Amino acid sequence: TPSVAASGSQSLPVAGAAHPTSPTQALGKWQSSCSSREAVLIIPCASLSQCRRFDYRPKTDPYCQARYTFCPTGSAVPVMKEEDVIEVYRLQAPVWEFKYGDLLGHLKIMHDAVGFRSALTGKNYTMEWYELFQLGNCTFPHLRPGMDAPFWCNQGAACFYEGIDDAHWKENGTLVLVTTISGAMFNEMAKWVKYDNETGIYYETWTVQASPDKKSTVWFDSYECSKFILRTYQKLADLGAVFNKVQTNYTSIILFSGEPIYLGNETSIFGPQGNKTLAAAIRDFYYPFKPHKTVREFFVDLLKIIDRVILNHEFYLFYNLEYWFLPMKFPYLKIIYEEVPLPVGSKTSVGV
Ligand SMILES: *[C@@H]1O[C@H](CO)[C@@H](O)[C@H](O)[C@H]1NC(C)=O
Ligand SMILES: *[C@@H]1O[C@H](CO)[C@@H](O)[C@H](O)[C@H]1NC(C)=O
Ligand SMILES: *[C@@H]1O[C@H](CO)[C@@H](O)[C@H](O)[C@H]1NC(C)=O
Ligand SMILES: *[C@@H]1O[C@H](CO)[C@@H](O)[C@H](O)[C@H]1NC(C)=O
Ligand SMILES: *[C@@H]1O[C@H](CO)[C@@H](O)[C@H](O)[C@H]1NC(C)=O
Ligand SMILES: *[C@@H]1O[C@H](CO)[C@@H](O)[C@H](O)[C@H]1NC(C)=O
Ligand SMILES: *[C@@H]1O[C@H](CO)[C@@H](O)[C@H](O)[C@H]1NC(C)=O
Repeated sequence: TPSVAASGSQSLPVAGAAHPTSPTQALGKWQSSCSSREAVLIIPCASLSQCRRFDYRPKTDPYCQARYTFCPTGSAVPVMKEEDVIEVYRLQAPVWEFKYGDLLGHLKIMHDAVGFRSALTGKNYTMEWYELFQLGNCTFPHLRPGMDAPFWCNQGAACFYEGIDDAHWKENGTLVLVTTISGAMFNEMAKWVKYDNETGIYYETWTVQASPDKKSTVWFDSYECSKFILRTYQKLADLGAVFNKVQTNYTSIILFSGEPIYLGNETSIFGPQGNKTLAAAIRDFYYPFKPHKTVREFFVDLLKIIDRVILNHEFYLFYNLEYWFLPMKFPYLKIIYEEVPLPVGSKTSVGV
């Protein structure tokens, strides 16, 4: 049976602001100075884990149709009066399928958001980051008839709306004040949210590490709801926010693998010059894991994928629009719920 732990002892790296350097960039140079036509290249350096920034968000393909509309009550981020005092709340609640005590119920699969309350207007707001087409679509591609390349509906984005649903967050989750900022700081943060939302656009479910060890190499960092919240807190700290002493744990889904092997992008693998054996192997791998209707189905199939992964020690990862081979190793997969502390500001002065 797959090794799925509800908690672990290793701590996760803080995502920080996603770095513009990427495996692609690291590889680009190496590849061009190498005339070999081999489809499989060994990555030349070990710390290539950050999600890439893109110049702009492309229009989603009409094939991708959301079952639930993304951000139905979303609004623009309001401009606050500079002298306003804004309370900032940590919001966390279980993904709804996991609230009840069944097989998957003991896994702490949490969703994260951040709340704001203006002292001047009394209005409050929620901000979160999530998949445009749900988790299954961000984790597994579609295999479409007549198309060789797997087809991904894997964008994620920020959603800002008025109101905080206290009951939703409080009852089985968390609603706690983490800091207080000025209206001016809030407005600065809003500019950053716009930038972040336009350039960090693809949801990445998996964190990939060399081992469960605390100091393990992180091959790939995930890019999902909690990473957006961590980046937001870091931005506020950089602007001078001072955080209260609150323990802040987050959910991560971690794969364990030896050094990843770069395979190529959609064109180089599935295009006319591509290696047909490799293309077929990737399609075969994804075949049993078509996107799912519910988060629950997603996790049931996740267990199946892990079973296969354990038998063959193989996993094909799609990251920054490129394919990588992961030589999987024990314990293969862990879902952990661990602390990433609130940031310490880089400014010494307090904004409020
Ligand atoms: C996943 O994408 C497919 C293709 O667009 C769509 O039919 C399906 O509704 C999506 N799933 C969810 C849960 O939104
Ligand atoms: C982020 O981008 C998405 C997609 O363009 C958009 O729907 C959403 O409103 C944006 N969020 C914010 C907070 O601006
Ligand atoms: C947010 O506003 C709503 C409506 O006024 C109120 O019921 C709720 O308690 C507020 N929550 C917070 C955390 O300020
Ligand atoms: C909280 O969990 C309990 C028991 O698991 C459940 O009955 C209840 O509906 C949940 N409340 C909310 C607001 O989700
Ligand atoms: C895909 O990879 C090929 C070969 O490395 C490269 O020439 C091409 O620019 C890449 N395409 C994209 C869209 O990145
Ligand atoms: C094509 O891919 C397969 C599977 O990854 C590999 O074993 C084979 O060596 C590749 N062939 C070429 C010509 O690169
Ligand atoms: C939160 O994380 C800490 C340290 O990572 C851990 O010891 C603690 O058990 C976690 N809390 C819960 C409720 O899992």
